[in-house]
Amino acid sequence: MEFSEVIKNRVSVRGYNGKKVSDEDVQEVLEVMQLAPNAGHKQAYRIRVLKDEAEIARIGKGAGQEERFAGATALIVFFAVPEESGERFGERGRGLYCVQDATLACAYAQLGAAAIGVSSLWVGSFDEEDLMNMFDLGEDAGVLPVAITLLGHVDEKPERSGRKDLKDLMV
Ligand SMILES: Cc1cc2nc3c(=O)[nH]c(=O)nc-3n(C[C@H](O)[C@H](O)[C@H](O)COP(=O)(O)O)c2cc1C
Repeated sequence: MEFSEVIKNRVSVRGYNGKKVSDEDVQEVLEVMQLAPNAGHKQAYRIRVLKDEAEIARIGKGAGQEERFAGATALIVFFAVPEESGERFGERGRGLYCVQDATLACAYAQLGAAAIGVSSLWVGSFDEEDLMNMFDLGEDAGVLPVAITLLGHVDEKPERSGRKDLKDLMV
């Protein structure tokens, strides 16, 4: 698929048809994710991959977005690792770069998914505490959940939402 097609193909999908995203496709998404730019070669992020539909539904419920999660068969949680970036970049690494590393990894995962015909949704609104408890991660784990990507299939893609004019993005 041409790069421009991949970009146009990626659209937020809320609610899926339950068709399984194959293990090979999840692996491909992760391999694209891994190529995301990252500050100082630190890759100051970690992920959890879930394929269990009950667990996915539980996170959806905690996020108050049950219907949007319905039918998704894989989910990736992206965690920032503040200290990993902080040890090299100090406060800028701790407060910003690690979050940007995780954010870019999430964006690349979505593009990787679009390239192979897998639909996705970025979920930023979720219950952090619930997520940390579910994965048995305490403060000592040193990770901060910043984003979730849902993966799934749909029969028909939704229309793309509108965008500001380029001139309105100039500051
Ligand atoms: C940081 C961030 C947080 C988001 N959180 C949510 C969310 O919690 N739930 C949701 O349905 N969409 C969420 N989205 C998806 C956006 O709503 C979506 O990307 C935007 O409306 C543009 O539409 P498009 O992705 O189809 O181009 C989030 C996107 C970003 C980048």
